[in-house]
Amino acid sequence: PTLKEAFKDKFLIGVATNTNHDSGKDTAGVRVIKQQFNSIVAENCMKSEVIQPKEGQFDFTKSDQFVKFGEENNMFIIGHTLIWHSQAPDWFFVDDKGKDVSKEVLIERMKNHISTLVSRYKGRVKGWDVVNEAFNDDGTWRESKFYTIIGEEYISLAFQFAHEADPDAELYYNDYSMSHEAKCQGVVKMVKDLQAKGIKIDAIGMQGHSMMDFPTIDAFEKSLLAFAALNVKVMITEFDITVLPFPTKEGGAEVSMNVEYQQSLNPYANGLPEDMAQKLEARYLDFFKLFLKHQDKISRVTLWGVSDGDSWRNDWPVKGRTDYPLLFDRNHEPKPVVAKIIELAKDE
Ligand code: G3I
Repeated sequence: PTLKEAFKDKFLIGVATNTNHDSGKDTAGVRVIKQQFNSIVAENCMKSEVIQPKEGQFDFTKSDQFVKFGEENNMFIIGHTLIWHSQAPDWFFVDDKGKDVSKEVLIERMKNHISTLVSRYKGRVKGWDVVNEAFNDDGTWRESKFYTIIGEEYISLAFQFAHEADPDAELYYNDYSMSHEAKCQGVVKMVKDLQAKGIKIDAIGMQGHSMMDFPTIDAFEKSLLAFAALNVKVMITEFDITVLPFPTKEGGAEVSMNVEYQQSLNPYANGLPEDMAQKLEARYLDFFKLFLKHQDKISRVTLWGVSDGDSWRNDWPVKGRTDYPLLFDRNHEPKPVVAKIIELAKDE
């Protein structure tokens, strides 16, 4: 069986697609998506800088292609992301003199952006990452322009505007490093506040960008359970595992910005040694065991890309490293772990 067949009665098994895939042309990557996955999420093409590069000038060329591809292949389509501080165009926050806009103006811009995008795909995009990455790892609010200009209320407003535009769409809050207890608690409090106000929120997205030593399975599980206890679904929304060292760990903040130093930290440019490949495989299996253990609480597990060559991990914090974070290799061939994950699903 394929991944989507193996997980059919458990949870959706999704993948982030990019412009190489959305045209649907018969490439190896597209064949993998069609065979293995039953849900797609837009890696970049629905972000605000793409959708509304200038105020009032919407460009749906890429997002239309993405949604069409999903519909043609019976995918559960996820929109990512309505409100995010990153990849948002500068005009969103300033007036024509370059000064921060008022709260009222920013709320109006949020509303217009969300309503236009969500209503265009009403009934077709089934779930939206409404707000992305609003918290710092210590559980405090991220000081984004949305926060500094509007305040905490921007969250409930975003959910409300999305709900008004498509009452049937599922609405999610999405963030990374959710296994930090303080961050988890910050998100829990926010969800409770939304629920107390009667605002619809259907699920929490734990992005799941992982390293070999972070997070621990226990910490991830603890957060997963804390979210599930809120009576929302939990989704693993952007899963991948990097084997590369993270520059700041070794060199501190100053060195980490040195491009040569970072590129020297590219130890597997000529292939992943067998012992590392095995460790990576074991790490993947540990996570999937956890997902299967909590399949009653999880509605979707999405990989952040199809094959290793696609991954953002190769290009962050600097471009040009060689990482192995996904389930399919650079030739779009399944890694041995895929069959093992499918085996696991049979047992659970
Ligand atoms: O499309 C332009 C292209 O026209 C240009 O020539 C090229 C030059 O560098 O850049 C291209 O844009 C890049 C874009 O990806 C598409 O490839 C951007 O520079 C690059 O910054 C952007 O990176 C994306 C990143 O979000 C931006 O923050 C990654 O692909 C995407 O995987 C990543 O995804 C995020 C999630 O949205 C939120 N959670 C974390 C996750 C990983 O950072």
